[in-house]
Amino acid sequence: MAAQTGLPLYVLGRDADPHSEKGVDCPGELPPASDPELVERARKAKEALGDRLFVLGHHYQRDEVIQFADVTGDSFKLAQQAAARPGAEFIVFCGVHFMAESADILTTDAQKVVLPDLAAGCSMADMATFDQVEECWEALEDAGLADQVIPVTYMNSSADIKAFCGRNGGAVCTSSNARRALDWAFEQGRKVLFLPDQHLGRNTAVLEMGMSLDDCVVWNPHRPDGGLSREQLERARMILWRGHCSVHGRFTAESVDDVRERIPGVNVLVHPECRHEVVLKADHVGSTEHIIKTLEAAPAGSSWAIGTELNLVKRLAQTFPDKNISFLDRTVCYCSTMNRIDLPHLVWALESLVLGDVVNQITVDADTTHWAKVALDRMLALP
Ligand code: 13P
Ligand code: SF4
Repeated sequence: MAAQTGLPLYVLGRDADPHSEKGVDCPGELPPASDPELVERARKAKEALGDRLFVLGHHYQRDEVIQFADVTGDSFKLAQQAAARPGAEFIVFCGVHFMAESADILTTDAQKVVLPDLAAGCSMADMATFDQVEECWEALEDAGLADQVIPVTYMNSSADIKAFCGRNGGAVCTSSNARRALDWAFEQGRKVLFLPDQHLGRNTAVLEMGMSLDDCVVWNPHRPDGGLSREQLERARMILWRGHCSVHGRFTAESVDDVRERIPGVNVLVHPECRHEVVLKADHVGSTEHIIKTLEAAPAGSSWAIGTELNLVKRLAQTFPDKNISFLDRTVCYCSTMNRIDLPHLVWALESLVLGDVVNQITVDADTTHWAKVALDRMLALP
């Protein structure tokens, strides 16, 4: 690879990367900004590819990468954007694996989706495997409950989990439309199996839809029958999968108390992937796009503590210097898998495309694509 592109890189995550771990670590400050020469190489490669290329960037990406995105957004907006560009031959996805899979599902067969580093996975998506979910469904069938249950999966899940939902009458949702997706699901059935983020499911059900915590049970895929009795399953309205985001799961109720003490009058704004007790203590809750819009509209001089990924919070603090924007927790914490996409990997992917070599292409097989698209289309059709 290095010989082909002239780029002296050790490409992490190519095929297998035994020295890394999916999920999150907190290495403190990021390494210094990438070599300015690489910035020029990325610019040139992009220019050479012209309209053949469309670069999507999730809000949690590093600044050095986001500067090359044609569109930035949360996972919902990026899925819409991927579907809206049938003319682009290459979609380079600066985000994580499940997002690139969704882009492949929503684009035409002629379009190629590239993820610059294959180690850019998501620990939450990995918490629900197809076999585990099938096992859960079989248990619900054995209990005579499956025909009442509509599976809804958060966008942050693998393509085969989305396909599972499509096949079984369910849908995908994102953090911007979870409420609407759940309203739709409860029109189709009496219970919902919500995958894989228990926090988004619980926060939406309890705080937005007026359910009680007792209406929710947690299915633990590592215990027989999910660790739940038949009576618990019969009583539940929301069966929450035992998954969570390693980044948003770090914020605690104490982080909120602490920031309120440190910054009088602060507004606490958190992502719904945060734990229930954190969201309960916050002033506002919303998806990444919602967080950005709220800060855009906030008056100058107002103070905000934000509970979401640090790349985005730092960028927001730079974008709105007239507002006092800080990270909710004292500990510096990035999403380490989002951070896998750095400028060297982006340059490598783009220069390879210029040379006619499609590296790190993400492809989803035809059957999975069909059923995952059914679930994604149900989401895209929500009012
Ligand atoms: P959204 O992009 O839907 O806000 O989700 C946040 C996230 O964790 C993406 O990985
Ligand atoms: Fe996954 Fe959380 Fe990282 Fe998003 S922020 S990619 S949900 S680990």
